[in-house]
Amino acid sequence: MIIRLYVPADLDGLIRLFRDSVRRIAIRDYTEDQVKAWAPDAVDRQSWATRRASRPTWVAEVDGEIAGFTDLEPDGHVDMMYVHSDHQGRGVAGALLRQVEAEAARLGLDRLYTEASITARPFFERKGFRVIAPQTVSLRGQDFANYRMEKRLG
Ligand SMILES: CC(C)(COP(=O)(O)OP(=O)(O)OC[C@H]1O[C@@H](n2cnc3c(N)ncnc32)[C@H](O)[C@@H]1OP(=O)(O)O)[C@@H](O)C(=O)NCCC(=O)NCCS
Repeated sequence: MIIRLYVPADLDGLIRLFRDSVRRIAIRDYTEDQVKAWAPDAVDRQSWATRRASRPTWVAEVDGEIAGFTDLEPDGHVDMMYVHSDHQGRGVAGALLRQVEAEAARLGLDRLYTEASITARPFFERKGFRVIAPQTVSLRGQDFANYRMEKRLG
């Protein structure tokens, strides 16, 4: 596995992986209607491109294929952490988070935080995050339970 920075040519692969991960993996914890609202058939490609360009995004590659991706905003927010359904449970997200933590240390951040899905909560807990509060967020007409989580660094 290699971890590298995102390049614009990755965009469609990331969107496909995001849809696969939500619809095949997060479906364990959310309804069909919820996963379709979370990862719709048609995403706003331009807004995805703008967001990816606005912050460091890292891609995990296994045998030349994109297996997962993550990102880091300047205030320590981890917005995205998605692993393809064919690459679950093999340390892909762990490797991506190590990259995020290395960058956070370089930037001198004192914490990371995220809004973890029910599906991702055990992963983040395993990696030292704690739940600050459960919450409900609304997206495209659906309500989602997730968890505000943080990890203190240093
Ligand atoms: C959550 C997710 C990113 C984890 O990715 P992954 O590559 O399978 O995770 P890893 O293999 O790197 O796991 C790292 C550690 O977390 C643990 N872990 C991961 N998922 C777990 C789970 N569901 N339950 C318990 N432990 C879990 C692993 O056992 C591993 O422990 P170790 O370091 O002691 O070996 C992945 O399941 C996913 O893409 N889920 C769907 C999308 C999603 O909900 N993303 C989050 C949006 S906020």
